[in-house]
Amino acid sequence: MNKLFKIKQALFVITVTLIVSCNQSQNKTNRNLVDNPFEKKVDSILNLMTVEEKIGQLNLPVSGDIITGQAQSSDIAKEIEEGKVGGLFNIKSVEKIKEVQKIAVEKSRLKIPLIFGMDVIHGYETTFPIPLGLSCSWDMELIKKTAKMAAQEATADGINWTFSPMVDISRDPRWGRVSEGSGEDTFLGSEIAKAMVKGYQGDDLTKNNTMMACVKHFALYGAPEGGRDYNTVDMSRMRMYNEYLPPYKAAVDAGVGSVMASFNEIDGIPATGNKWLLTDLLRNDWSFNGFVVTDYTGIYEMIHHGMGDKYDVAALALNAGVDMDMAGDSPVIPAAFIKTLKQSVENGKVSMQNVDAAVKRMLTAKYQLGLFDNPYKYCDENRAKTEVFTKENRAFARQVASQSMVLLKNDNDILPLKKSAKIALVGPLAYTKENMAGTWSVATKQDESITLLEGIKDVAGKNATVLYAKGSNLSYDKDFEKIATMFGREIPRDGRTDEQLRQEAVNIAAKSDVIIAAIGESSEMSGESSSRSDISIPQAQKDLLKALVKTGKPIVIVLFNGRALVLNEESKSATAILDVWFSGSESGHAIADVLFGDVNPSGKLTSTFPRSVGQIPLYYNHKNTGRPLGNKEGKFEKFKSNYMDVPNEPLYPFGFGLSYTKFDYSNLKLSANQLNADSNIEIYVDVTNSGEFDGKEIVQLYIRDLVGSVTRPVKELKGFQKVEIKKGETRTVSFKLTVEDLKFYNYNLDFVAEPGDFDVFVGANSDASLKSQFELVE
Ligand code: BGC
Repeated sequence: MNKLFKIKQALFVITVTLIVSCNQSQNKTNRNLVDNPFEKKVDSILNLMTVEEKIGQLNLPVSGDIITGQAQSSDIAKEIEEGKVGGLFNIKSVEKIKEVQKIAVEKSRLKIPLIFGMDVIHGYETTFPIPLGLSCSWDMELIKKTAKMAAQEATADGINWTFSPMVDISRDPRWGRVSEGSGEDTFLGSEIAKAMVKGYQGDDLTKNNTMMACVKHFALYGAPEGGRDYNTVDMSRMRMYNEYLPPYKAAVDAGVGSVMASFNEIDGIPATGNKWLLTDLLRNDWSFNGFVVTDYTGIYEMIHHGMGDKYDVAALALNAGVDMDMAGDSPVIPAAFIKTLKQSVENGKVSMQNVDAAVKRMLTAKYQLGLFDNPYKYCDENRAKTEVFTKENRAFARQVASQSMVLLKNDNDILPLKKSAKIALVGPLAYTKENMAGTWSVATKQDESITLLEGIKDVAGKNATVLYAKGSNLSYDKDFEKIATMFGREIPRDGRTDEQLRQEAVNIAAKSDVIIAAIGESSEMSGESSSRSDISIPQAQKDLLKALVKTGKPIVIVLFNGRALVLNEESKSATAILDVWFSGSESGHAIADVLFGDVNPSGKLTSTFPRSVGQIPLYYNHKNTGRPLGNKEGKFEKFKSNYMDVPNEPLYPFGFGLSYTKFDYSNLKLSANQLNADSNIEIYVDVTNSGEFDGKEIVQLYIRDLVGSVTRPVKELKGFQKVEIKKGETRTVSFKLTVEDLKFYNYNLDFVAEPGDFDVFVGANSDASLKSQFELVE
């Protein structure tokens, strides 16, 4: 198993860690469990349980270190036997899981099976692009299939519950966890949330190849002040309802089985203890009937938030609506359900009714998964041998990876490269298996990841000349390098001087036709607890690039990154930039597929790339202010809303991405110019492939509500379609809008559409300029 688990645990001990219809589903309710078919069975077990056994069902210890054969005698085995454990997380392999499950169902008094959870975030052993990269495919079927395949592999290895999808909207790339989400947009994020839940859970959780999903981090975790992880969140209810909450709601409407409470506070109350959030909104308004788990030591952390002592915070969490306590039973964690709830029940701080409600939800989940019928249903050794990290799965991972890449620049059509080219491959990310999978890939087969050097050699074949030089270390700063390559994601430091490293790169560049510079972030420069205040490429790599520019050879940057970066210099000096994120097990092959034109890039950004950190938060669907700029060029205007030293515009807008071919948009037409509650409007646009390659284009539809009872965004994505268009061909792409698509939460938090005029824009990114208008009438 990946080192991440162990290191994370150790750290924790020390620090105490064709979308045509554009309906958002705000007003649908989740009916998946309203009539609980297992209620009678659950009640009959509940009637037999002691208080200790009940509290035990709410306990989720971390046990990544169970060694087969030793589980029988370990502390955790004793706890399971005594009915003090509801599930385990971070335990991998059928053998180990079978062994501990056996203790639960054969030795504990009530024989209640355990659930087994893990962070299966972007694939399992076969690893797909980081979620931010995956979202750039804008391909819901593809995304759903990645979740389905992840479930297939993880369940073959004994796991039945994943802590995914992470649907936190974020507009702050300083926050390292943007890498784990789907970017800045509510509409796209909601579609992806649904696709992921459906992919993991399928339509039948009792099958042995589907798993329970857990939407996280509820809620608003992506909006920490200053982009610093775990920091305070404070926002208006209108913003919550319109911009941040819909993706969680979409997951609930898609039937997600569990929800993870976030670390941050909301309106002054940490999410883990926030009854408004976990009960009033989630259960009462949204009809969620699954269970809520804390994020790691969320209960204990409420002591630091200033919510009281260990009894207070555990009671607060239970009473707010938390069902399961993750990682609370570690010896260094005083505040946990298992350590405090009994006393709190006895002295009335917590009612037995609330404990029972939580236990019922946990037992129901186990029934839903079919564990009472067959606790070993995920323990088929044959599946573990034949269904994980297969050739077919890796082939799919290669395909997915190439769909996530975004071509940001391609001057003189330098890309695609000829397979006979003489290539100088340089950069600290060119040859590092450890940094291909990306953050939060705990089960990845790191040693079998394909590096860029290997990928280029494999794809280019024998006619190419590929010379390699590292060119620079990740950073000049050794200490920074250490914290940027944790959890076994090393990039060993090269002991030569910076000048020597650069000179070697310049020497091979001189012998080549083109330079490929594999630069950017290491995989652990994004992810949890990896916030950055400076989101540019480290100086050592910038200096390498400067030296390469002086050679006069064309430079293709292959950009590795877990977040939007500030790329002002690079966007000027490089001939081409291909953003590859961290694209998983088959990265090297997939990047080479794109570089050599076997795949024409089609990814589009799902997060805005700013020109400077000072512009953050910068996102396309902002409000207009009372003093918007009067010029389109972004020139400074006194007493208007702008900066003296940087334009308002981003470097690369949301939705942006180039192709090797060219798409022209024309003939925007609407089927009507009025819409009412019973009608719809169809929107048509012609997209012509006028370039030299067949290609895929992501056609985007935006609207603007011109007048409202509250201020409305300048643009909102309301539809998109990914279409394949052969060279020379024109496709008419159509969208449909209904009144549902025009609804928003008003000042009273009523979900309404207000009559009036709307602009509609269609185009290749959020700067779409083809524009028409319609009116919503009563
Ligand atoms: C993270 C979660 C994750 C959990 C379990 C926490 O630190 O915030 O996203 O699911 O650990 O590993």
